[in-house]
Amino acid sequence: MTDKKTSIPEKGRSKEDVLEAMKKFGENDPDYKNGKTWSLVYYLGEEYANFLNEASQMFASSNGLNPMAFQSLKRFESEVVRMTADLLHGDSDVSGIMTSGGTESCLLAVKTYRDMGQKKGIKNPEMILPESAHVAWEKGAEYFNVKAIHVPLDKEYRMDVAKVRKAVSRRTIMILGSAPGYPHGVVDPIEQLGAIAHKKNIPLHVDACVGGYLLPFVERLGYPVPKFDFRIKGVTSMSADTHKYGYSAKGASTILYRSIDILAHQMFVFTEWPGGIFASPGLLGTRPGGNIAAAWAAMQAMGESGYLENAKKIMDTTRQLIQGIEAIEGLEVVGKPDMSLVAYKSSSKKIGIYAIGDQMEKKGWHIDRQQKPECLHAMVTPLHQQVIAQYLEDLKKSFEQVKANPKLSLEGGAATYGMVSKVPFRGMVKKNVLKMMLEMYGPSGKVADFSESDKGGGGFVDKIARLFLRFKN
Ligand SMILES: Cc1ncc(COP(=O)(O)O)c(C=O)c1O
Repeated sequence: MTDKKTSIPEKGRSKEDVLEAMKKFGENDPDYKNGKTWSLVYYLGEEYANFLNEASQMFASSNGLNPMAFQSLKRFESEVVRMTADLLHGDSDVSGIMTSGGTESCLLAVKTYRDMGQKKGIKNPEMILPESAHVAWEKGAEYFNVKAIHVPLDKEYRMDVAKVRKAVSRRTIMILGSAPGYPHGVVDPIEQLGAIAHKKNIPLHVDACVGGYLLPFVERLGYPVPKFDFRIKGVTSMSADTHKYGYSAKGASTILYRSIDILAHQMFVFTEWPGGIFASPGLLGTRPGGNIAAAWAAMQAMGESGYLENAKKIMDTTRQLIQGIEAIEGLEVVGKPDMSLVAYKSSSKKIGIYAIGDQMEKKGWHIDRQQKPECLHAMVTPLHQQVIAQYLEDLKKSFEQVKANPKLSLEGGAATYGMVSKVPFRGMVKKNVLKMMLEMYGPSGKVADFSESDKGGGGFVDKIARLFLRFKN
């Protein structure tokens, strides 16, 4: 963005010119096509991406808002829901919809259970979340005015079931378990949660946004996967994202309920609008047809054999990653991941894990930092099979660099991340992050310039903003 006024060009530019400009905009984006990113992207290569584009393109102008108009989209959506219900061991009563992504699916579950609770006369509703729940649930709590009761994790980073029992109250509208949780890749004890939920007649949602299209295949490959789906009696709903390990185009997820009676609470109907009687199953009005179509296309083209093949590549690579991390004396994996999300930390106070992250970024990797405990994170996809050896070699080198020069833990990004994760005044952190967001989304659209904070200058806002700086070379 510049200070110059930005308006629609007076005369349209040539399409070649526009596309060329767009290509340039993308030049500094993360190099996901070569497996350098370990989050955000589930890329399977150019040929597959072109196929998804073609499928999406075919229905790009159509709109899933009115299922009676675009019956093609209704059919895609119904079949995606049915295929997913089947994969997750749901019976023919399972009902659901496609959404725009994991967050929408999570938000909808909160809304559904809040309204169900209201019907039962629950005032001041509460939902019980594991501390490792995806942040979308916190968003749901805030948006829908439901109090989040956070249950700590046990030593294995699973939701502590004894503490769930204690947290249940007359106000509980739902319990959440993740399969798996994003931060540590660990599946919560869904069977035990199901027993509590069933006994107390409380809804239990399983957030399988990231695991829904991978765990079933990991299980079929013979890995020990704890039961996590509709096989468990107390499970009343599940979310699973086709745009993650379902390998569809971005903007597609599913939310499934054990029965239509529960889904009914998600529906919105308004009869008095001058524009006509309006009914909508999710948060969106217009529902982009391309994303719905591409999800169906992905599942058809992939087939069970494709999902199994990719799951094998992912699990082989994850095994290599875990073995490689554990072979570095001084690094340890956080918990025991059930799938392909791996967090690892330093076992020595002198060797800062964030400093290792800095060194990895200097070597061209995109590394996510996490907190509580301070650790680095990797989400393995099939593409990583080609780069895992290089990643581990660089990790070893980065570790040795920080070990030989502990001052690195007090400099640059490591110092910033370290400071931010330890600031006791979380309200201050929140205030500053909010200020930064308003700057970025304000009229100037300014993206924070971090060069000053690199030189030891820059304000607290800049430093905090570095938390978001995930693609720095
Ligand atoms: C367990 C879990 N739930 C929800 C989400 C949110 O999904 P999205 O980013 O598609 O909104 C994620 C994203 O990684 C996730 O891992």
